[in-house]
Amino acid sequence: MDGKRTVCVTGASGYIGSWLVMRLLERRYHVRATIKDPGNEKVKHLLELANASTHLTLWKADLDEESSYDDAFQGCEGVFHVAAPMELLFQDQATKEDTESATILNGLLNVMRSCSKTKTLKRFIYTSTTGTIIMQPQPPLHEYTENLWSDVDFCYDSKMHGWKYLAAKTVAEKAAWKYAEENGIDMVTVHPSLVFGHFITPYRGYSIDIAISLYTKDKAAMASLKCLNGTSIVHLDDVCNAHIYLFEHPLAKGRYICSTHTLNIFEIAHSLSLKYPDRDITTEFETLDKSLKIVPCSSEKLLGIGFEFSHKNKGENWVVCFFTSLLKRTNISR
Ligand SMILES: NC(=O)c1ccc[n+]([C@@H]2O[C@H](COP(=O)([O-])OP(=O)(O)OC[C@H]3O[C@@H](n4cnc5c(N)ncnc54)[C@H](OP(=O)(O)O)[C@@H]3O)[C@@H](O)[C@H]2O)c1
Repeated sequence: MDGKRTVCVTGASGYIGSWLVMRLLERRYHVRATIKDPGNEKVKHLLELANASTHLTLWKADLDEESSYDDAFQGCEGVFHVAAPMELLFQDQATKEDTESATILNGLLNVMRSCSKTKTLKRFIYTSTTGTIIMQPQPPLHEYTENLWSDVDFCYDSKMHGWKYLAAKTVAEKAAWKYAEENGIDMVTVHPSLVFGHFITPYRGYSIDIAISLYTKDKAAMASLKCLNGTSIVHLDDVCNAHIYLFEHPLAKGRYICSTHTLNIFEIAHSLSLKYPDRDITTEFETLDKSLKIVPCSSEKLLGIGFEFSHKNKGENWVVCFFTSLLKRTNISR
């Protein structure tokens, strides 16, 4: 890529953010990585990435601080807003008011106000989730598409595991679309389903905890994974490549589901237990229905503008490969 193209990634220390920074640097973007604490050990891996010495700078910014992102965004043509407090997934005690004033909503609008002050900005890419689509009292018969919005009242009423996160992401994304329309921001949202894949962070974030919980037996994280039986999954590398593709594609517009396979926790646990007979992997989940009909999330819209997934082979295979690659890394700290 010729010429200087500068973009910013929020939440660059995280699971998805770090990989996205890596892929952007490989494409020779000049990347501004925003981090709550740039002096923290959590960011050392970013400085060691290819092209980091010439193309990466670290910027301190916090979602809870108004105008915190102003400086980092100045001169950027793209902002990838990935940051979110994922611990919400584990906090089920909250009122509706708590959720609506949560960091996800305020932080997103805070970031967008900083975008409004950036004259060079061409597109704002927001990492949403299929969780803003699939929480329906009556699931569709065949597939979930971008036309659907999760029913926030359904989240509040049924209090499914992670409801606070799901409701907060939905409320925040709706507010973001309103802000984008009123303030002329070219926003595109990416909606990954549950993300699996090798990670480069030197620590385990909440998302990674969930993904590897069958192996680590972390009870709280496994509760999240169990709730995801019957949902869809996607590879980390495909998620990050989709972010970049949607940033670069002149015709990208609106919401894009990014998802390739459906997850059957029974099949994954079975494959893992065969591969690791000494590890005593749980294969029975009392509260879960083995025969559950899984409604997939459709990535037709993303495929329709020419994106190609790299990880198209059988989902269980690469999920099991992912677990295998973690064998050496399960002792790393949170
Ligand atoms: N992982 C998945 O399966 C999945 C699926 C769909 C959508 N998503 C979305 O993808 C995004 C990233 O998720 P992830 O899996 O990469 O999570 P993660 O590893 O926990 O990363 C979250 C990032 O957000 C940052 N952050 C949290 N609170 C912040 C604050 N107050 N101010 C500034 N930064 C803050 C964290 O920084 P610190 O480390 O400094 O706290 C971290 O860099 C989220 O928006 C999530 O909703 C994830």
